[in-house]
Amino acid sequence: MKDKGFGDTFERFSKVTGIKWLIITVTGWFNVNCGCEYRRKLLNKWFPYKQNNKMNKKITIKEILDPVSPQVFFKEYWNKKHLILRRNKFKDLFTWNDFNKYLNQYPNMKGLQILNYRLDGDGRWCLDKVRNGKLKLPMLKKETVYKLWKEGKSLVLPFAEYQKEELLDVCNEFERYFSNGQCNVYASPKAGSKSFPAHSDNTENFLFHQEGKQKWTIYKEFAPNKPKEILEEFTLEAGDLLYIPQYQYHKVDTVGPRLMLSIHFANKDRQTLDNFQITPLGETNRKKWYNWIPENPSNKKDKPTLERRMVSNSWKKKYFRDKI
Ligand SMILES: [Fe+2]
Repeated sequence: MKDKGFGDTFERFSKVTGIKWLIITVTGWFNVNCGCEYRRKLLNKWFPYKQNNKMNKKITIKEILDPVSPQVFFKEYWNKKHLILRRNKFKDLFTWNDFNKYLNQYPNMKGLQILNYRLDGDGRWCLDKVRNGKLKLPMLKKETVYKLWKEGKSLVLPFAEYQKEELLDVCNEFERYFSNGQCNVYASPKAGSKSFPAHSDNTENFLFHQEGKQKWTIYKEFAPNKPKEILEEFTLEAGDLLYIPQYQYHKVDTVGPRLMLSIHFANKDRQTLDNFQITPLGETNRKKWYNWIPENPSNKKDKPTLERRMVSNSWKKKYFRDKI
């Protein structure tokens, strides 16, 4: 456990060194002549250390949109035009390791989509729809999904926002300015893996690039018009953020393995620049992230590794000697 304040450090130091005179002198300075525990708490209160507590440090929209200010974003880009932020931020929200852990839970997961799986319909194979019978396709074995991935199919993991606290923080912050949203993970194993063709979405899209590179094509047109004229083409990589307004046409081409988060939201009812509604901090509809770790968990590092190994080896030796 880290020291919470000077009281903890002082207590540790005095225990190790046994320097009684120091206790008497220092407590004398602060006019504290009572028992160890009271002194420790009082000194902690008077001289607390800055806690590096990630839980209290919530992600702000200013950090998310950096270096564009939220005011400039909403006035100049929101609902009007796409915004490209090339930078080196928020690239570890969901890594290949997180993806690996998530996929190994298959089929015990909330959802999984395989893109370009079939020629008919929208081409997708959707775990939840196959499971509840809405999509008449076979249930796939884990080894089949893995084979399809290795062959080059792109995967989508919907509703990933509760996979990591930081993802939930980003959603929570955005939902102060927008309506409810969700986080989808887009993953492709190699160059040329197919994603969606040119399309538009009815949500405000924030694309957080996590691993690899991908090529974007942004069209001039917004739905219900059809995509005709290319407005801009560019390649983004880990740490970059792209905003695409709702209804604007866009397309992704993979140029190698890539991992990207699509964090998207509907707009709040009657949200306008003239009457802009911001939900107060902590008052969005989302279920909270709780810290389920007990306050004083046993510390695995307390026991020296060497001691544990010796105990384990002696047990094995005895066991085999008796059996043989
Ligand atoms: Fe899209």
